[in-house]
Amino acid sequence: MSFRLQPPPVARPNRCQLFGPGSNTKLFAKMAASDADVVNLDLEDSVAPSDKAQARANIIEAIRDVDWGRKTVSVRINGLDTPYWYRDVVDLMEQASDRLDQIMIPKVGCAADVYAVDALVSAIEAAMGRSKRVAFEVIIESAAGIAHVEEIAAASPRLQAMSLGAADFAASMGMQTTGIGGTQENYYMLEGGTRHYSDPWHWAQTAIVAACRTHGVLPVDGPFGDFSDDEGYRAQARRSATLGMVGKWAIHPKQIALANEVFTPSGAAVAEAREILAAMEQAKAEGQGATVYKGRLVDIASIKQAEVIVKQAEMIAAG
Ligand code: COA
Ligand code: MG
Repeated sequence: MSFRLQPPPVARPNRCQLFGPGSNTKLFAKMAASDADVVNLDLEDSVAPSDKAQARANIIEAIRDVDWGRKTVSVRINGLDTPYWYRDVVDLMEQASDRLDQIMIPKVGCAADVYAVDALVSAIEAAMGRSKRVAFEVIIESAAGIAHVEEIAAASPRLQAMSLGAADFAASMGMQTTGIGGTQENYYMLEGGTRHYSDPWHWAQTAIVAACRTHGVLPVDGPFGDFSDDEGYRAQARRSATLGMVGKWAIHPKQIALANEVFTPSGAAVAEAREILAAMEQAKAEGQGATVYKGRLVDIASIKQAEVIVKQAEMIAAG
């Protein structure tokens, strides 16, 4: 056991991150009125190269003019391998109002990528006298990103969240997949004549969760492309929640309620967690380190598991 305590992540609800292209201004008010905890206004892959400049201007105006309520307002900039990203950062940091909460950096491959954006953001923040420190989220969506995930998670105190971007990740890894996230036709085990589908995203997800938890960053599952497949989305989201992720992207408003459903601990789960905490309190009062709850062992590790659920529920209720 390390003597270093695991730092807690920022306390912000992050069950659903809703995306919308910066070029599609008619979506902004709808995004603001939605039930997503985080809105991601996109400058990257949903915006055509010829629209980048207009999308920047649209987003800067919308950050100022739209009532975003209590949402985390995030802008996804272009990747560091493009000619656009520095202008994204400069214009946002010089012109966007203080309602800007976060910059999302896509296709991060090493800690120095985050350092580069941090240096630019820090200088402009100081020059402009911005009092609110802008947070970062990164997307792990390449072989380099997953290979360096731990140093990336530690790269900046601004870093609050990290998402897995399944489609770019699969392409970078050379995976023979189609679709964005979810079950893959050729990834199965055979037992007798029966196929049992397995989860090709599992390793990347757990690597991200471990890096995030080590450094106090929120781990988030990225997009699920087929927005007509509610059950597929739910199944992917439930696997992510089970592995420790706190939320998932929505690329269509249909997916918001699904994410909120999966990543909000149910009333029954919260009630059970509270009962476990009470049972352990009683055990402690009786000088015991473990006790029996509904026929199963609960011990000091169970307190921590129950506290995760209760804390999540309290933060969502307060948010
Ligand atoms: N945020 C808020 N509202 C949205 C929305 C979004 N991302 N996407 C669609 N809507 C609205 C539509 O405007 C429409 O509203 P209306 O009923 O008032 O007319 C309603 O939801 C139904 O939309 P629908 O017709 O089913 O979808 P569409 O064809 O208009 O748009 C997409 C489909 C995929 C193009 C659109 O959802 C989109 O741009 N998604 C985000 C893509 C993105 O940002 N990708 C980058 C991250 S991977
Ligand atoms: Mg991507």
